[in-house]
Amino acid sequence: MTSKMAHWDQRYQTGDTPWDSGIVERELVRFLQDESISPGQAFELGCGAGTNAVYLAQNGFQVVAADCSEFALERARKTATESGVYSNFIKADLCSLTDVGRTLGSDAASLQQSFSFLFDRGCFHCLRKLNLSGLMETLEWLAAPHARFLMLCGNPNEQSESGPPKVTEEQIHSELGGLFEIKAIRAFHFEDRGGITGPLGWSCEMTRRST
Ligand SMILES: C[S@@+](CC[C@H](N)C(=O)[O-])C[C@H]1O[C@@H](n2cnc3c(N)ncnc32)[C@H](O)[C@@H]1O
Repeated sequence: MTSKMAHWDQRYQTGDTPWDSGIVERELVRFLQDESISPGQAFELGCGAGTNAVYLAQNGFQVVAADCSEFALERARKTATESGVYSNFIKADLCSLTDVGRTLGSDAASLQQSFSFLFDRGCFHCLRKLNLSGLMETLEWLAAPHARFLMLCGNPNEQSESGPPKVTEEQIHSELGGLFEIKAIRAFHFEDRGGITGPLGWSCEMTRRST
């Protein structure tokens, strides 16, 4: 485990997780409804404590959800069990396709480009500066042709200095636009713990370009 990943585990262990609302993300609910997304194979990047992965499983998706924090994943597995649904929660570094493949084990070959829906609430904006090419390699491996991808990230129009890393619309286009067609980028507010209105973000709707 790198020191960055240990840092995430530490934050979950100490409860220093303002993003961890425990509430299903409204943007996810809206997107699935507005875009009439049919249940299929879904992959969540940086699933944290699993609230949204469990929601997807409850709505008929076959979910694989990855995070680097074992502490968060233990909470996610417990929530899934208590909710009576199954999601495959894996511990992996999403910037390393080798690590993702190793973690998926014997399932890996059958899962390549099998995910028709990808969801990310707050992971891309952390990883893009650490290892964008590694993350893009993983996304390319995961996403089925024409897969839909909903990515939520920090918005530079947020006045507060604290909060999630900020990404400009131009950066979204230049970094993700090669693999994905950017369909819409809209401003929204994250919800923080306790349902408190959190920082301004971008909700970015994408479709994987045909290969
Ligand atoms: C801002 S949190 C968002 C968590 C969750 N999506 C949510 O909304 O509650 C970012 C998440 O990305 C995870 N993460 C950070 N670096 C990672 C990496 N290299 N591979 C996998 N997960 C990572 C962290 O452990 C953390 O759970």
